[in-house]
Amino acid sequence: MRCSKCLLCLAALLTLLGLKVYIEWVAETRQSRAYPGPRGTPPGPTPASPEPTLPANLSARLGQTSPLPSASWNQQQWHLGTLPSSDCQAWGAAAAARIPDLASYPEALRRFLGAAACRSFPQWRPRGGGGQVANCSARVPYLLLAVKSEPGRFAQRQAVRETWGGPTPGVRLLFLLGSPEGEAGPDLGSLVTWESRRYGDLLLWDFIDVPFNQTLKDLLLLAWLGRHCPGVSFILRAQDDAFVHTPALLSHLRALPASWARSLYLGEIFTQAKPLRKPGGPFYVPTSFFAGDYPAYASGGGYVIAGRLAPWLLQAAARVAPFPFDDIYTGLCFRALGLVPRAHKGFLTSWPADRAKDPCTIRDQLLVRPLSPQDSIWLWKQLQDPLLHC
Ligand SMILES: *[C@@H]1O[C@H](CO)[C@@H](O)[C@H](O)[C@H]1NC(C)=O
Ligand SMILES: *[C@@H]1O[C@H](CO)[C@@H](O)[C@H](O)[C@H]1NC(C)=O
Ligand SMILES: *[C@@H]1O[C@H](CO)[C@@H](O)[C@H](O)[C@H]1NC(C)=O
Repeated sequence: MRCSKCLLCLAALLTLLGLKVYIEWVAETRQSRAYPGPRGTPPGPTPASPEPTLPANLSARLGQTSPLPSASWNQQQWHLGTLPSSDCQAWGAAAAARIPDLASYPEALRRFLGAAACRSFPQWRPRGGGGQVANCSARVPYLLLAVKSEPGRFAQRQAVRETWGGPTPGVRLLFLLGSPEGEAGPDLGSLVTWESRRYGDLLLWDFIDVPFNQTLKDLLLLAWLGRHCPGVSFILRAQDDAFVHTPALLSHLRALPASWARSLYLGEIFTQAKPLRKPGGPFYVPTSFFAGDYPAYASGGGYVIAGRLAPWLLQAAARVAPFPFDDIYTGLCFRALGLVPRAHKGFLTSWPADRAKDPCTIRDQLLVRPLSPQDSIWLWKQLQDPLLHC
């Protein structure tokens, strides 16, 4: 009798103990799931980012192991020491002459190949002066918003100024553009001159602003920063149809472990991308031009890099054979430096248009695109509204 009571007691006790352990375990896993650290953080201790390095021979870094394909870019990269600093046209013409089916290439790609090594262009300055972009000697920005635009996209630029690119402590906004005088297009010189004098935030260079010339904006900005604005902590490279949740991005960057921040390359990362081989589209790449897969890269719609990498990226770019797409070229340069991109779920660079007007979803993101200027302004207002309930 007594003993069976004893057993009952023991069983109850054990059940209670088991329950307690279970409850604590569940509570703990809940808590750890709710940990509000920077998203994209892998579990466990933070791995330190490697420091950038640039070996004398980039072949291994760029995955060039024999047998080497005969494609033009691959051959070029294999033999490339440093891109020529003069007579870039001759270099391009010689490279193009080695492509057997060049005549079948799209016109834009042929033009790119001819001028691909030409990377030094003077700034475009308004006639009559003015429009000078101030250097950073008064204030070094923590975050530089470097927005790629085109001369004719006035409304997009104005929307950025009135929303996420507006005055914020520690943040500076600059637009990157080619020549407003176009080639066959209308001469936007006087309109852009007015805008440049009014806002002082346009960096213009004297090259034709076409899609395959966008890498020039990246490289010329890095050179400009080295001369006029060294010491920037982070650079956001974005398109002018992006919408950036600037306060969220700032707090994310401030919360990053220092070892990540030093070599940051953060955005929506594509790791399995392959060249598109169907002629006709804007991203068509002929097999005789490039063989293999793309490197892991951050989508060009918007991504963040550490400012201290600017001189490193310039050095790498002098040794990586030109590629027509700016974001893939950046991926190649990071790969050459031995650095890896970091993915963050809050970068959505192909945002479905029907979700553009949802402040509750966008509140939790860092960057979405594409958005029209009107939608950007509407959204920004919603996000500022203290009564916004989600
Ligand atoms: C780079 O190294 C490879 C061997 O991995 C070698 O075949 C190639 O010639 C080297 N390239 C240069 C430019 O030295
Ligand atoms: C920065 O701009 C100021 C004002 O225009 C000028 O006095 C100064 O010399 C410039 N500094 C550098 C490093 O270019
Ligand atoms: C890029 O701009 C340069 C200078 O204006 C021009 O020579 C070149 O053809 C342009 N590239 C393309 C792909 O049009």
